[in-house]
Amino acid sequence: MERLNDDILHLPWYYEVEVAGTKPVTVSPISGERHRARIALVLSVLKAVAGGTLTQKRVLDLGCNAGLCGLECLSAGVSSYTGVDASHRAIAQAIYLFEDRNIAKERYHFVTSDIFEFMHKACGEQWDVVLALGIVHHLPWYRFFEFFEGVNTLCADILILDLVLATTSVAPAFQLFTRDTPHSQNPDGKIVIHPTKGALASLMGRLGFDAVIIKPCFPKTSAFADYHRGNRRFVVGCKKTRLDALASLQDDLGDMRLDGIPFKALVSACFRKVVKRIWHG
Ligand SMILES: C[S@@+](CC[C@H](N)C(=O)[O-])C[C@H]1O[C@@H](n2cnc3c(N)ncnc32)[C@H](O)[C@@H]1O
Repeated sequence: MERLNDDILHLPWYYEVEVAGTKPVTVSPISGERHRARIALVLSVLKAVAGGTLTQKRVLDLGCNAGLCGLECLSAGVSSYTGVDASHRAIAQAIYLFEDRNIAKERYHFVTSDIFEFMHKACGEQWDVVLALGIVHHLPWYRFFEFFEGVNTLCADILILDLVLATTSVAPAFQLFTRDTPHSQNPDGKIVIHPTKGALASLMGRLGFDAVIIKPCFPKTSAFADYHRGNRRFVVGCKKTRLDALASLQDDLGDMRLDGIPFKALVSACFRKVVKRIWHG
């Protein structure tokens, strides 16, 4: 066990963390700033919708990697955190990290599993909060809707997604995107789906979520270029909790509909959108 722990410490980590008194090598030089800001946003959104307190909330994190978001959720007071990831290394690092931070074992649980297998074995169990951050755009296109169906079954109330959206949109659509290389845990994921904001909001609505698309106020650095370009967003869906507290962070849905709109109105809407983009950067 000691031997495994030592190996885990010396393999590259996804997150920039301090663990066992050292800073292990990370896979990306910008990941520290980016992940800190993403996780801070998730926590502030959760606190805002939950009215300030997260006690009593059971959190499930799909594609949790080394569980960094879980550490923050637990220190914000959630009652339990379950992290699921297909990567043995990520889960071993998560366990190492949580033991290093002396987190009470009864407050967390890590599962090494593909998320779809986890969904099938969950047997009706539900969590108050489900996080799926940075994972949807890695899933093969033909599992996209299966993911939403499964996540809907697991989620009793709040769902937070962080995902890549379509770059262009003339109407709500689920666009196919070909990646250069599929994600290592999704070898079939060369072709993935990037939904437009409108398509995603409509899908979540059909599943019974009130949904808000969040435009994060991240620093204007290259670490956040995809969020600034507008093709990556956080999406918060709630089945019971009200979303009013997020009104100030809300992005416009922005997809332009072709159906039933006269051509002149469409061209002027396109023009307004381009001007708005240039004006607001
Ligand atoms: C880009 S990382 C995001 C990690 C974390 N959620 C975050 O946002 O910081 C994607 C994670 O999802 C895991 N993953 C990808 N596909 C998966 C799948 N089909 N089942 C389980 N885990 C998966 C990867 O191993 C990786 O740890």
